[in-house]
Amino acid sequence: MNVHIPEHVLDEIRSATDIVDVVSEYVVLQKRGRNYWGRCPFHTENTPSFTVSNDKQMFYCFGCGTGGSAYTFLMKIRNISFVEAANMLAERAGISLPEKEQSPQERLVRKKQQRLLDLLALAAEYFQNNLSKHPDASAAIAYLKQRGINGRIAKEFRLGWALETWDQLIGFLSKNGFAQQEIHAAGLASPREKGVGYYDRFRGRLMFPIIDHRQRIVGFGGRVLDTSVPKYLNSPETQLFQKGKILYGLSLAADAIRQAGYAIIVEGYMDTIAAHQYGFANTVASLGTALTREQAQLLKRFTRDVVIAYDADAAGEKATLRGLELLQEVGCRVKVAVMPPKMDPDDFIRKYGAAVFKELMEKRALSLIAYKLEKEIVVQNTETVEGKVDVVNHLLPDLQRLDNAIERGQYIKLIAGRLDLAEDAIYFELNRRSGKMQKNGTGRDKKEIPRHNKDEIGSLGLLPSEEYLLLRILEEPEALDQVQAELGQDVFQQQAARDIIQLLQEWMAVNLDPPSPAALADLLPSGAARDLLARVMSREKVLGGSLPDLLRQIKICRLSQQVEERQRRIREAESAGDLEVQRQLIVELTALQREKEFLKRSKQ
Ligand code: UTP
Ligand code: MN
Repeated sequence: MNVHIPEHVLDEIRSATDIVDVVSEYVVLQKRGRNYWGRCPFHTENTPSFTVSNDKQMFYCFGCGTGGSAYTFLMKIRNISFVEAANMLAERAGISLPEKEQSPQERLVRKKQQRLLDLLALAAEYFQNNLSKHPDASAAIAYLKQRGINGRIAKEFRLGWALETWDQLIGFLSKNGFAQQEIHAAGLASPREKGVGYYDRFRGRLMFPIIDHRQRIVGFGGRVLDTSVPKYLNSPETQLFQKGKILYGLSLAADAIRQAGYAIIVEGYMDTIAAHQYGFANTVASLGTALTREQAQLLKRFTRDVVIAYDADAAGEKATLRGLELLQEVGCRVKVAVMPPKMDPDDFIRKYGAAVFKELMEKRALSLIAYKLEKEIVVQNTETVEGKVDVVNHLLPDLQRLDNAIERGQYIKLIAGRLDLAEDAIYFELNRRSGKMQKNGTGRDKKEIPRHNKDEIGSLGLLPSEEYLLLRILEEPEALDQVQAELGQDVFQQQAARDIIQLLQEWMAVNLDPPSPAALADLLPSGAARDLLARVMSREKVLGGSLPDLLRQIKICRLSQQVEERQRRIREAESAGDLEVQRQLIVELTALQREKEFLKRSKQ
C-alpha cells in the first residue's frame, strides 16, 4: 500500500470529498442552522452534541471534545491510519493514487516481518490442533473444563496446547519451510546452552495467542496446569511483540466496545476470557499489572469511557490508581469496579453471574473521587474531626480539577454524606483553597466578550476569550504580529494552541491565502491540537469587540491567574512560617494587582 501521499493529492481528495456525506454513513445527521447535528459516535449520549460543518469541512463534538476533518473522522471511527483513510476517501472520490516505489531494503524488511507473522499464525494453528486432537492434551482439556471455559470461547480465543516435548514445534515449523533462526526470532525457540541448535520455548503449557488490533498474532502467553513457576511464560519482546503496546483481547473486543459505549480493562488472560464468555466482549487486558501510556492511548482510539476492574489485592490497587491517572491523562473518563477481597473478575463473574457483574461495571463502578474517598476512609480515622478533615483535604485537588459545577456539587454531596459533614464546610474549604473568596472581576463586559471564570475553562485549558483569539488569528493570520507583540511569541501556554500557531506561521511563510481549517487539521502533529482546532472552528463568528479589547481582556485574566497563584503561595508560606518568602510574594502580588487595575481602567 501507498505510504506517502503528496500534499497536492491530499488536497485533491479533500476538495472532492464532502464531510457531511462521509459522516452520514455512520451518523444520522439533521440540519439545524448552518450546521448538521447528530449523536456523537465517539461517546454515548442521548441529546445530539455532535456537529458537522459543511463550509469548514470539519466535525466537532461539544460533549466529548473530539473533532477534526473527514480524514480524522474515518481514522477514528474505523481505527485506521491516515494513509488508509486517504485511500478510502480517494477510492470514494474516484481518484487513483500513485503507487509509491519501495526501496529494496524496505521490501526486504517487510518480507522478513511477513514471514514471522506467517510463522506465528502457523504455530497458533499447530497449538490449537494439539489441543483439539492430540491424545496428550487430555490434561489441558480437563483443566479448561475445571476452569469453566467452554469450547466456543476456547476457539474464539484460539487457545492451544504446547506438548511436553523439546522439539515438536521446531520440527513442525521446519517441515513447513521455516529456518531455526526464524523460529527463534519469532520468540518460539531458545538456543541450546550446550551444543548447537534450538529447543521449543513453550512446553507443557496452555497457549494463549496474543493478537493485536490489526488481527495479527504477534506473540503467546503459556500457562502451566499446576502450581509451578512461572505461572505464565510469555513471548520475549521482539520487534513485533511489545507487551506494553498491546491489549489482550482487543481484536475480539473492538466492535463490542463501540456497541457497549465503554471498555472494561482487566489484568489477566483468564479474566478477559471469562468476561467474554459471560457476554462482556468489551473487555481487554493490560497483561500484568502496569498499564502503559501506549496501552491507554490505544484504548482511547476505541472509546473514552473505561472501567478498570483489577484484582482486589495490593498490587491491583496500586495498578488501579496508576491506570486511573494514565487513562485520565490521555483523555478518558475512568471508573473503578472494586472487586471483593481476594477476587479477580474471573472469580467474580463465575461466582455471581453476568447480571451482578453488569451491575458492578455499569452502576456500582466508582469515579476517581469516589474511589479515592473509599480508600481514604479505610486509612483515616473518620470518627474524629481531624480524620474527616484529612480525608477532605486529600480530595480537594481532585474536586478543584472538575470544571463542571454540577458535577462538583454531586461529589461534595457524596463526600458530605459519607463523612457526615455539612456540605457547606466542604465548599468553604474548596473556596479557601482556590482563593476564590477574593472576588475577581465585576459584571459582564458590555461588549459580550465572555467573562473569565474558572468554571468556563474548557477541557483543553484555554479561556473562552483565548479561544476567540485563536479563531480570530486563524481567520486573519495578519493579526498574528500584533498579537505576538502583546502576548509574546508563543501567544498561548497550551501546547495544542502553540502547535496550531506554529503550523499557521509555517503555512503563511509559503502561501498567500490562509489554509482551510480541514487542511490545517490534517497537518497538525497531535490529536489534542486537532480537537482544539475543531472546537474553536465550531464557534460561531467572533463576537463584537476589537482585537485590542480582546487582548486586554486576556491579559487581565492571565494576571488574575497569577494573582491567585501568589495568594495561594502566600498562604503556604504563612503556614510554613517563612516570613522572608511571604514578604517577597506580597511584593510580587502588589505589583500584579496594580498592573491589573491599570489595565482595567485603561479601556480606551
Ligand atoms: P494473575 O496472577 O492475576 O493471573 O496475573 P490470572 O490471569 O488471574 O490467571 P489465573 O486465573 O491464575 O490462571 C495477571 C496477569 O499477569 C501476567 C499474565 O498476563 C496474567 O494474566 N502474568 C502473571 C505473567 O505474565 N506471568 C506470570 O507469571 C504471572
Ligand atoms: Mn485469576
